[in-house]
Amino acid sequence: MNPSLANFILKLSPKDIFNPKPTMNTAIPLNTGATIPALGLGTWQSAPGEVKKAIIHAIEGGYRHIDCAYCYQNEDEVGEALQDVISRGIVKREDLFITSKLWCTFHTRAEEGLQKSLDLLKTPYVDLYLMHWPVPMNPKGNHPLFPKHADGSRDIDTSITHVDTWKNLEALYQSHPEKVKAIGVANYSVKYLTKLLAHSTITPAANQIENHPLLPQQEIVDFCKAKNIHITAYSPLGSTGSPLFKDAGVVDVAKKHNVGPATVLLSYHLARGSSVLAKSVTPARIDENRKLITLDDGDLEALEAIHKKNGVQRFVYPPFGVDAGFPDKPEGIDLSG
Ligand SMILES: NC(=O)c1ccc[n+]([C@@H]2O[C@H](COP(=O)([O-])OP(=O)(O)OC[C@H]3O[C@@H](n4cnc5c(N)ncnc54)[C@H](OP(=O)(O)O)[C@@H]3O)[C@@H](O)[C@H]2O)c1
Repeated sequence: MNPSLANFILKLSPKDIFNPKPTMNTAIPLNTGATIPALGLGTWQSAPGEVKKAIIHAIEGGYRHIDCAYCYQNEDEVGEALQDVISRGIVKREDLFITSKLWCTFHTRAEEGLQKSLDLLKTPYVDLYLMHWPVPMNPKGNHPLFPKHADGSRDIDTSITHVDTWKNLEALYQSHPEKVKAIGVANYSVKYLTKLLAHSTITPAANQIENHPLLPQQEIVDFCKAKNIHITAYSPLGSTGSPLFKDAGVVDVAKKHNVGPATVLLSYHLARGSSVLAKSVTPARIDENRKLITLDDGDLEALEAIHKKNGVQRFVYPPFGVDAGFPDKPEGIDLSG
C-alpha cells in the first residue's frame, strides 16, 4: 500500500471512518438514484457582469453544484461561465450538478420554459428542474415574469393548479429524459405537498425551501424525509447582506469551533441531511463558504434554541404577495386558503 495512504488511514478514528467529515461535494442520494453535491453556489441577485466571474471562480475552486432559475434573468451569463470552464477542461459537464426552475408564468408551458433555460445555460440537460413556486401566474399578462392586474395585485392564473403543473413536469420528464434528469418542487409546505403527492405518479426528487436557524421548518423537513424527498436549503445566511452572521447563538457555535459564522450556518444543513445553497459574487467569500464541519448534538441544540428564543423569521417572500392569500406563517408557504 502507498505509505502516505497507510499513514492517513492509521490517523483516522473509528468515528471518522463510519461518519466521514462533510465536504462541499459530499454526494447526497436523491430518490432517482443520482446524487446531489452538498454545497451549491446560488445565483439569485448575482448581477450581470458579476455572475460569470463568480461561477468560474467557484468551479475552479471545486464547486460542482450551481443553482439557477429562469426568473433570475442571468442564466445567459451563467451559461457563458459553464461554457468557459467546460471548454478549458476545468470540469466535464457530467461532473456538474445544474438546477434550474420553471417560472410561474410558464406553468402551462413547461417544455418551453425548460428549453429557454437550456438554451440560455448552453447545456443539453439540467440535473434538476424545479417548480419555482406552487402558484401559476398569467402567461399572457402585462409582464412576462411578474404580471399584475390593473389594481396592482398579482395576476394569478386560476385556470390551473400546482397539481396540473406537476403533471406537466411529469410529462416533460417522461418525454425528455435526455433534457431533464430529475424533477422537483420549491417552496412547498406539508399541505401543498400532501395535495401534490395524492395526484402524482413521480415523487418529487427535491423540495427547495428557505431554511436556517431562524426558520428551521422542521415539519416539512421531517415530512420530506419520510417521503424520500431531498431538502435543499436556500438563504442559509439570511439572504441579502447575510444578517444571520450577527446572531449571538451562531457566533457562539462558531467561536467554539474556531470557524466563521458561514461555516456554522452551512454545516447546519448537512447535519440535517440537506444540501445547501450559498450565494456570493465575492471570490474570498465563495472560497470561505467551502468550509464545512461536523456539528455535534450540543451545537444543533444551541442553533435550535435561536428561533425558540427570538421567534421565526423569513427573509424571502413570494413574488405574489399577501394578495394571493400568503399567510405569514412559520410553517411554510401555504396559499390554498
Ligand atoms: N427556490 C427559491 O424560491 C429560492 C429563493 C431564494 C434563494 N434561492 C437560491 O438560494 C441561493 C442562496 O440564497 P440567497 O441568495 O437568498 O442568500 P444567502 O446565500 O443566504 O446570502 C447571500 C448574501 O450573503 C452574502 N455572503 C455570502 N457569503 C458570505 C460570507 N462568507 N461572508 C459574508 N457575506 C456573505 C452575499 O454577498 P455577496 O454576494 O455580495 O458576496 C449575499 O449578500 C440563491 O442565490 C438562489 O440560488 C432559491
